[in-house]
Amino acid sequence: MIKINILSSTDRPGSKAMNVSGYAAGILSRYVDTEVFSLEDYPLADVAGGKYGRTPQSVNEFNSSFLDADGFLFVIPEYNGSFPGILKIFIDYLPFPVALERRPISLIGESSGAFGAMRAVEQFEQILKYRKAYIFPERMFIQRVDKTFDSGSGLSSDVLQKLLEKQLKEFPEFVESLTKQLVEP
Ligand SMILES: Cc1cc2nc3c(=O)[nH]c(=O)nc-3n(C[C@H](O)[C@H](O)[C@H](O)COP(=O)(O)O)c2cc1C
Repeated sequence: MIKINILSSTDRPGSKAMNVSGYAAGILSRYVDTEVFSLEDYPLADVAGGKYGRTPQSVNEFNSSFLDADGFLFVIPEYNGSFPGILKIFIDYLPFPVALERRPISLIGESSGAFGAMRAVEQFEQILKYRKAYIFPERMFIQRVDKTFDSGSGLSSDVLQKLLEKQLKEFPEFVESLTKQLVEP
């Protein structure tokens, strides 16, 4: 069975990103194996001072557990009109160039503001393109996340809830179609 790993892309304790990740895992688990990872667990202290080219064992272990999947869902909050700094650190210590190359990635943004982290997601997409990932075109931007999202029932808007469920149903199909193409030339 296909596996999709989810990254709650902040280290902020009690983040909405973690709540949204857990909720997304519940939907994805109808179709695939899935596991939630959080940058709260990233061994940040071990890269202090710049360990580029000398990636610590703890970071290699975090990276390889996360990368052991067929596809990835990043849940990204907006911090200062962008994505959290720790997400960039995470990317900077991934094995280069292979980690994300031709790997399917789905994106959900969430913020307390009105744009649902669209800026954060689209800036992150530039990095994903540089790393040659395959970005799933359906994306969700959860605006006013503190008012519009509930960890048990999802989004308060029926229309947006249907779109979220559609994204999470169709992403595994996207992953499967790419996996087949890579296996069967
Ligand atoms: C350092 C920091 C910067 C933030 N900057 C923005 C911002 O630019 N736009 C916005 O809509 N919300 C901003 N927020 C609020 C987050 O969107 C809010 O915390 C929301 O719950 C999503 O983040 P979370 O997953 O950490 O909970 C910021 C929060 C933090 C901690």
